[in-house]
Amino acid sequence: MTGIKTVAVCGAGGTMGAGIAIVAARAGFDTICFDMSADALARQRGAAEKFFGKSVEKGRMTAEDRDATLARMSDATDLEALADCDLVIEAIFENLDVKKELFGKLNGICKESTIFASNTSTLSITEIAGGSGRDDRVVGMHFCLPAQVMKLIEMSRGINTSDETFDAAWAWTEACKQIPVETQDKPGFILNALLVPFNNDVIRAIEAGLCSAEDIDIAIKSGLGYKMGPCTLLDLIGLDTQVRLGEAFYPITLDKRAAVPPLCRRMVAAGRLGNKSGSGLLTGQTPPKATEAPGYAIVSAGGSRSFPEGGAFLDAASEDAPVTIHLGGGFAPDTGKTAVVVELDTECLGVHTGESLNGGPSNVVGFARYRNGDDAPSNLIELVRRPQTDPAALAAARAIFEVAGFDVVVCADQPGRIVDRLVRPKYNDALRFLDEGLATAADMDKTCCMGLGYPDGPLERVTRGGLARHYDVSSAILAMTGQPGYAPARAAVVAKTREG
Ligand SMILES: NC(=O)c1ccc[n+]([C@@H]2O[C@H](COP(=O)([O-])OP(=O)(O)OC[C@H]3O[C@@H](n4cnc5c(N)ncnc54)[C@H](O)[C@@H]3O)[C@@H](O)[C@H]2O)c1
Repeated sequence: MTGIKTVAVCGAGGTMGAGIAIVAARAGFDTICFDMSADALARQRGAAEKFFGKSVEKGRMTAEDRDATLARMSDATDLEALADCDLVIEAIFENLDVKKELFGKLNGICKESTIFASNTSTLSITEIAGGSGRDDRVVGMHFCLPAQVMKLIEMSRGINTSDETFDAAWAWTEACKQIPVETQDKPGFILNALLVPFNNDVIRAIEAGLCSAEDIDIAIKSGLGYKMGPCTLLDLIGLDTQVRLGEAFYPITLDKRAAVPPLCRRMVAAGRLGNKSGSGLLTGQTPPKATEAPGYAIVSAGGSRSFPEGGAFLDAASEDAPVTIHLGGGFAPDTGKTAVVVELDTECLGVHTGESLNGGPSNVVGFARYRNGDDAPSNLIELVRRPQTDPAALAAARAIFEVAGFDVVVCADQPGRIVDRLVRPKYNDALRFLDEGLATAADMDKTCCMGLGYPDGPLERVTRGGLARHYDVSSAILAMTGQPGYAPARAAVVAKTREG
């Protein structure tokens, strides 16, 4: 039993607060919706009525339950109305002084036992609690957007939070049928600590001319099975929000990957914020899929990571054809062909073709079928072009793989191509967070699966794919870029050492 009967949500006129109020009222708690804006409260009251109306239509609740739930929700613009509540959850503006001021005022109004919870995404719970006059009774309770739909809550303790407070807040989230995970009072907790630098890496990859935003989404969805591509997510949350997140994180973490990418600032300055302004990273332009393709011959120099078991694609090859596909690390130039396609591992295509800056057009195209360590190869083909790659050669390679049923993306000859470039720093982060005790491996993975719709968490995936393989891929990219995010995390170094 939590002893909590009445809950107040501060900022209930806003996006998160409105959802949190629905969660509380739905679970049977008397819910005071507090906001400084009466208009915002009225708008959210309408939204709550609509939400519960839909729940009735879908058979999730009866009309009587809906009426009783709405009757449990009351509006307030005067803080004094919160005097008797047992739990206050604040979801007001993301500003330390504003949050401290609110808790400071509430300390003089609420009863001794009232627990204060903060839904902050980027601020420290300990610092917010510092202004409350009751820092043992303050807890972090980070809901995901939209709160009324998403079950995950990241729970964190400030330095002075008492066990009693943490346990009572935890029990309350369970009484609401939410799924809490425990994390530490560190910037971004689990979800944003992994997501903010990753999303910045995505923007930097576009800025670096690696590939289109569309191809990043295709690659990440097909290669990693994420439900939503990162560019779709960025356009949804807004590039202005991403700027704010970077500005909040970088000064605390000094992680360069958290710093706002220049392209992100330029997009915001240009009014391209994402869905809310009508245009963002995604352009809506994808080339039509090929319906016919030239024939291809296979030349194998040894084991292929892309096609280890043979299969239909290899069976469909001919003896002599306009395109030659080299598997297993081999390559022989042949200017008489429409295209010469070379399988890549962690190396760049230039290793095979040479790095001549001013040679004429080249018919050589690189490719790799994305594969997580020894997992079965995915359906994703990353094609690699160099500046001088003949568009006809690229089109022929694309057509061959598309007609064979693969998801095909095209990227520049840059280290890690698309998927490894973006996902390896995230694996290193997750492994380091595990060492630092941010959360258990299970909770970190659960957070990513529930909060972001990943099919499996980063720790499960990187260990399944093999930590030694992660070491190899990360080290190869580090050697070419010098970017610290690719420095293999301790566990990967250990795995590599043991393998040797
Ligand atoms: N939007 C997200 O995806 C998301 C996700 C998780 C957590 N959060 C966190 O939730 C909090 C709110 O974010 P949001 O996106 O819902 O913001 P929002 O701007 O949509 O809503 C904030 C609400 O707080 C009200 N408000 C501001 N100052 C107030 C005060 N002193 N007293 C009473 N009401 C006040 C505003 O009138 C507004 O209705 C932030 O701390 C944010 O970091 C946001």
